[in-house]
Amino acid sequence: MSADRQQLPREQWGTDTGFILATIGSAVGIGNIWRFSYVAGENGGGAFLIVYGLSVLLVGLPIVIGELALGRRGAADAVVAFAKDAPRSAWRYAGWVSVLGCVLILSFYAVVAGWALKYFLGAVSGALWQAAGAGYGGYFREFIADPVAPLFWQCVMLALTVFVVAGGVRAGIEVANRVLMPLLAFCVIVLAIYSATLPGSAKGWQFLLSPDWDSILTGQVVVAAIGQAFFSLGIGMAVFITYAGYLAPETRIPRAAVAIAAGDTLFALIAGLAIFPAVFAFGMNPAAGPELAFITLPQIFLAMPYGHIFGIAFFGLLSAAALTSMMSLLEVPVASVLHRSRITRRRAAILMGVAAFVLGIPSALSFGVLSDVRISGDGVFDFINRAVSNYLLPLGGILVCLYVGWFLRRADAVSAAGLSGGVTGVIWYWLVRLVAPVMVFLVILDTVGEL
Ligand code: PHE
Repeated sequence: MSADRQQLPREQWGTDTGFILATIGSAVGIGNIWRFSYVAGENGGGAFLIVYGLSVLLVGLPIVIGELALGRRGAADAVVAFAKDAPRSAWRYAGWVSVLGCVLILSFYAVVAGWALKYFLGAVSGALWQAAGAGYGGYFREFIADPVAPLFWQCVMLALTVFVVAGGVRAGIEVANRVLMPLLAFCVIVLAIYSATLPGSAKGWQFLLSPDWDSILTGQVVVAAIGQAFFSLGIGMAVFITYAGYLAPETRIPRAAVAIAAGDTLFALIAGLAIFPAVFAFGMNPAAGPELAFITLPQIFLAMPYGHIFGIAFFGLLSAAALTSMMSLLEVPVASVLHRSRITRRRAAILMGVAAFVLGIPSALSFGVLSDVRISGDGVFDFINRAVSNYLLPLGGILVCLYVGWFLRRADAVSAAGLSGGVTGVIWYWLVRLVAPVMVFLVILDTVGEL
């Protein structure tokens, strides 16, 4: 089979459905399962949802279309997509920003993914439930402060990712997403339904869905919503550019982009409806942030009927959602290396996986051995986490907007997106040319002002 593949000019997705599942798999991740609900809770619940929806529609969706258009047009990788029209211009560096960015994101993302996998296997074996003695606060903090355990689990998640990506686009990434994504959807829906049956769950629904109108249009809510849209969709890091590089020419890009944006948003919403009713039913704090998934929720699983099964499903969901996002983060650098050397896909995947692991060591140890290392007040993990969502992804997004909206000829841009000749094309073009970059720029300015 590998001999066959080497003879092909380039790899391609088996089907459009496979491609769409893989892109939704990239978007749906740790960001949807706890970050969305937590940020929504802090920023006015239902009111945040409205602003978030607008951010996805006016900023996120146009950039997703832009990335898909660039990717299919380049038909190769992140670097080619930006260097196609002017190989000698500074644009050839734009793709490399994403390539390096992806390795950096992967490095700290794998740490949280590793925590999730440890909890999942602990829930399956029962070790997690026996560890409850002094509460999960102590359990979690002791685990992340350990000098070896977090590294081990981070390594296992990266190894799984490397294994899938080494299998290729069609036989690795597409197959994994075809299996995992329907499972994830099923799991999160069942969890949300079960959560709704808990006594006192209505407060959780209210928390997430009832608008607190006073907070709707403050700058903080808009900034939080746009930042969340970037992280949750996973835009600005050439993931969609890379995945669309393997697309057949006839795939309809706008339709795929709508499926990605809608799938990602719906998933976040349903995950929130699984988590918050349970949090309220047990009188826990909904705004516990990163600790929510690893300290608050296990406590709840221990107390609720069928909680162990719920726990297995929840941490399985979190690990699998992280894995499908990690595949896309690894594929971006792998594709770029593959097209520039004679190295095999397997070697490239291992090489990039090792790079992400090494780069992630300080993040994995930043709650223990390296807790004294501070960068502008944060530990290494927190610093990278914040820098990625506040600066790196928005910067990548602006580059897409500038390239598509200002550098390309308008007719080329619109036809690459498959939107020629309609009012939708005009709307998209102005969103990507003006509205999205201005909004993102304001967000960056606002964040800088806060420092
Ligand atoms: N979208 C993923 C999540 O919600 C994270 C991600 C960011 C994936 C950037 C790819 C690129 O967890």
